[in-house]
Amino acid sequence: MEGLLDAALADPWATMDRLVDGPLHPGGREATERLLDRAGVESGTRVLDVGCGAGHALELARDRDARARGVDPEPGTDRAVRGTATALPVRTDSVDVVLTECVLCLTDVERALAEADRVLTPSGRLALSDIVVAGEAPQIPERAAQVLCLTGARSRDRLVASVADAGFRVGSVADHHEDLLAMRDEVASKVDYERLLGLMGERGRRVQDAIDGVEAAVEEGRIGYVSVVATR
Ligand SMILES: C[S@@+](CC[C@H](N)C(=O)[O-])C[C@H]1O[C@@H](n2cnc3c(N)ncnc32)[C@H](O)[C@@H]1O
Repeated sequence: MEGLLDAALADPWATMDRLVDGPLHPGGREATERLLDRAGVESGTRVLDVGCGAGHALELARDRDARARGVDPEPGTDRAVRGTATALPVRTDSVDVVLTECVLCLTDVERALAEADRVLTPSGRLALSDIVVAGEAPQIPERAAQVLCLTGARSRDRLVASVADAGFRVGSVADHHEDLLAMRDEVASKVDYERLLGLMGERGRRVQDAIDGVEAAVEEGRIGYVSVVATR
């Protein structure tokens, strides 16, 4: 049973991809569509999806006839190249919209924003969504924090300030707490993790405690999800 947990954590995004129907962020495809609208993605727009995972957002952008490609350390689609948010394998001034959904919290946000700024054209737009925390994030094991996108999560105000400090003009900020609650319910309805973890003794109890802490924080709004659209 423990081997199952280790295998799931060893390749967390593949595991989540099997559990969640569609994109691996709260709000799914609809949230991506709204973000693409706000960033003005249309026919011919050059979109770079940073941390594109399985490429769901790339498909949506391409449905609009945008010229979309992705970057991910472990690309799950042939529309993407291997790379990270802090060292984009992309030319300076070559992208109209940098999209990055549920990714910045996994990396060095300041360096990632500087890279987005580098690759965007002078009229380029940044469209991001991310986990935010109010106050202290629940204390949970590092690997679990990574899977739950809590490692580098910052407060809503700090995230917005980081975007502005990187030289962007913040156009709109939206809260998506309901989407986060719905994603939590979707995952909980698909995995009976209470029963599975109950079979794993002490380690299972620690993971269960972590999950309980995160669920309470989501319920109380201490963990949230926001999107930001900004221009250069
Ligand atoms: C929560 S998933 C989101 C995937 C996709 N954006 C979506 O919404 O469906 C996080 C993604 O970020 C990628 N990732 C992790 N660290 C990264 C980094 N330093 N730079 C770029 N992407 C990263 C992971 O491989 C994974 O595909």
